[in-house]
Amino acid sequence: MSALLESHCPDLTLLARGKVRDLYEVEGGHLLFVATDRLSAFDVVMTNGIPGKGKILTQLSLFWFDQLQHLAPNHLITADVAEMPASVQPYADQLTGRSMLVKRVEILPIEAIVRGYLAGSGWKEYQAKQTVCDIALPAGLHESSLLPEPLFTPSTKAEMGGHDENIHPDQAVAIIGADRAAEMEALALKLYATARTFAADKGIIIADTKFEFGTNAAGEMVVADEVLTPDSSRFWPAAAYTEGQAQDSFDKQYVRDYLESIAFDKTTPVELPAHVVEATLAKYVEAFRLLTGNDPVL
Ligand SMILES: Nc1ncnc2c1ncn2[C@@H]1O[C@H](COP(=O)(O)OP(=O)(O)O)[C@@H](O)[C@H]1O
Ligand SMILES: [Mg+2]
Repeated sequence: MSALLESHCPDLTLLARGKVRDLYEVEGGHLLFVATDRLSAFDVVMTNGIPGKGKILTQLSLFWFDQLQHLAPNHLITADVAEMPASVQPYADQLTGRSMLVKRVEILPIEAIVRGYLAGSGWKEYQAKQTVCDIALPAGLHESSLLPEPLFTPSTKAEMGGHDENIHPDQAVAIIGADRAAEMEALALKLYATARTFAADKGIIIADTKFEFGTNAAGEMVVADEVLTPDSSRFWPAAAYTEGQAQDSFDKQYVRDYLESIAFDKTTPVELPAHVVEATLAKYVEAFRLLTGNDPVL
């Protein structure tokens, strides 16, 4: 199988190519949400992809939508290409297993990040100021420590090519209003808590994750985008968890290690060698198997 780096659906209206997804507008104002095999690290999209990654991300999101649908409405209409509009059918080969027909929502301009453990930019900030998103934390925490309780640590949603910036929850209030911010925080924490408990039973620690929420025409808050995938979350194998050090995660550990080994400048896209591609794909598959009990359909 070769990687699908870009979808080509010339008779559909292409709205955007994100770092990973291609978005098309289709009949009824709905969106066709296509996960390609592109891989981004440090917000840079690499020149080659991970064959099948988009399918794993899509199928894992579908799994979680199903697990979490009792908590909040989500944007999914169908992932069955046969049920999608006629205009989509000519592209079934490209789309099968990696696309969703979704309700278009107004995406709220805040990334709803929840952290249960201290890692990444949170750990960096803690070392400097004993805070995460300017939220004060107890002294004595270490890298990868379990936080006293999960924290809502929002970030701004950068425009194309920009970098998201961590903000204090009060700034989220300033951007989207007190009611929406409170609703977002409560919902993000609830989704995270439910998923974390589920994953813990399967031997995976969900250290943190990012949700995107939108509002529909009725003004309801809807879970959009991908959910609880290795791209949007830090998944750690529970058996190997050791406080006080970085964890080997299920996502881009190999990619990050490789990029560090070549002194990646965090700007210029590079080609990942075959062994990095293979190891990364194997990790995505393993996370999928552990969480769902099934193999992804590649
Ligand atoms: N239901 C939806 N309606 C409108 N936009 C959406 C919806 N779900 C997700 N999106 C947007 O689609 C894009 C997904 O593409 P992706 O490649 O993940 O982008 P990014 O590079 O921003 O991560 C994101 O900008 C996300 O905010
Ligand atoms: Mg995204």
